[in-house]
Order: sequence, then C-alpha cells, then structure tokens
Amino acid sequence: MTEHDGMTEENSFINLIAERQSFPRLEEPGPTEQEFASILEAALRAPDHMRLRPWRFLIIQKDNRSALGSLFSEHVMASNPNSSEEVLLKAKNKAFRAPVILVGIACIKDHPKVPQTEQMLSAGCVLTNVGLAIYAKGFGSVWRTGDYAYSDVIRSGLGIADSERIIGFLYIGTPVSRERPLSKISLDEHVKYWP
Ligand SMILES: Cc1cc2nc3c(=O)[nH]c(=O)nc-3n(C[C@H](O)[C@H](O)[C@H](O)COP(=O)(O)O)c2cc1C
Repeated sequence: MTEHDGMTEENSFINLIAERQSFPRLEEPGPTEQEFASILEAALRAPDHMRLRPWRFLIIQKDNRSALGSLFSEHVMASNPNSSEEVLLKAKNKAFRAPVILVGIACIKDHPKVPQTEQMLSAGCVLTNVGLAIYAKGFGSVWRTGDYAYSDVIRSGLGIADSERIIGFLYIGTPVSRERPLSKISLDEHVKYWP
C-alpha cells in the first residue's frame, strides 16, 4: 500500500465517523450472519481497562423477536395494569422495528483498579463500534434504551444478572430512507485548548 493510499483510507474512515447517523426506521435485510460476525469481532477490539471484557451481547432476530416483544408488553402491563390491548400490541411490535436487535450488556466486575463507570464506558465503546461498522457495511442502526433497558421484567426475561446492566438495544437493518440531514456540531461549544 502506498502512503497516498493510506491517507485515502484514513480520510474515508474519518468521513465515515463524521457521516454516521442513527436510522430510527429500519427494514430487511439485516446483515448476514457472516457479515455480523465480522462486525462483532472488530467491535470487540474496543478499549478495555485491564482486559476485563466487561460485556456480553445478545442477538435477537427473525421469529425470536416475538419473545422480546412479549417482554416489552409484559413490562408495559407491569408498569400500568390498566394498559389497553392497543397499547400492549404497540409495545410488542417495537421488537419488530428492525431485522436484528443487539442487546448490549455491561458485566460489572469487582476490581480494585477498574471502577464500574469505566466498565460501562468500555461496553459502550463496543456498541458504538458496532454502530460504526454497521454503517460502514451500508446498513443502519439506532441505539435505544428507554424504560426497557431498566425494567426488572425485561432484565429478568433476558436473564440479566444483578451485577449486569443493559446499556442499550441496538436496532439494526437497512435504512428505510437515508434523507435525514446530519445534525450540526460546533467544535467551539465542546472543545477548548487548555490552559
Ligand atoms: C445510551 C443511549 C441511549 C439512547 N436511548 C434512546 C432512546 O431510548 N430513544 C431514542 O429515540 N434515542 C435514544 N438514543 C439516541 C439515538 O441513539 C441517537 O443517538 C440520537 O437520535 C441522535 O441521532 P444521531 O446518532 O443520528 O446523531 C440513545 C443514545 C444513547 C447513546
């Protein structure tokens, strides 16, 4: 590879990060199992203090989304036992908003040098990497938490241990439309040279 080629690849990598956006509306197809495996292998290279690997991920796709949808509606029912059938169905259908849902879980370990926050951040880096790699492959994703990430009903249904935290549901698929304008970011508002 020439130095020039390297520069081009570097620039396209940076452009990709700059262009990435969330896609709330997603449809089939999602990545193939092979594509998804290569994305996940790359994403797991996230920075990780003391190599604790404080994370695990659940892939929910195809008909298995129905079981997740049932947990969503059970959560709504538990929060409000008077919920109408319509509201419950709406919650259930949320599991079908994308072909694939990746549940990101931080597995918090007791460690003298690595506090919980660092482990949460590290797991978040993996999920961010997945979102970027998904975008690089021409797919789209959106990271959601809402009540669902913190619900005891959903945590228990997914088999989340007391020491674990759901950091997000990454909905993955093909964007229905790519026409959302990018939000503006002002460097000056967020970054200063110090002192
Ligand atoms: C930890 C976390 C939780 C989020 N939860 C939700 C959510 O529940 N619902 C939602 O609409 N967006 C949620 N978002 C925001 C979207 O993923 C997305 O970042 C936001 O809509 C901005 O879009 P952009 O990525 O195109 O800039 C969450 C983001 C993060 C990092």
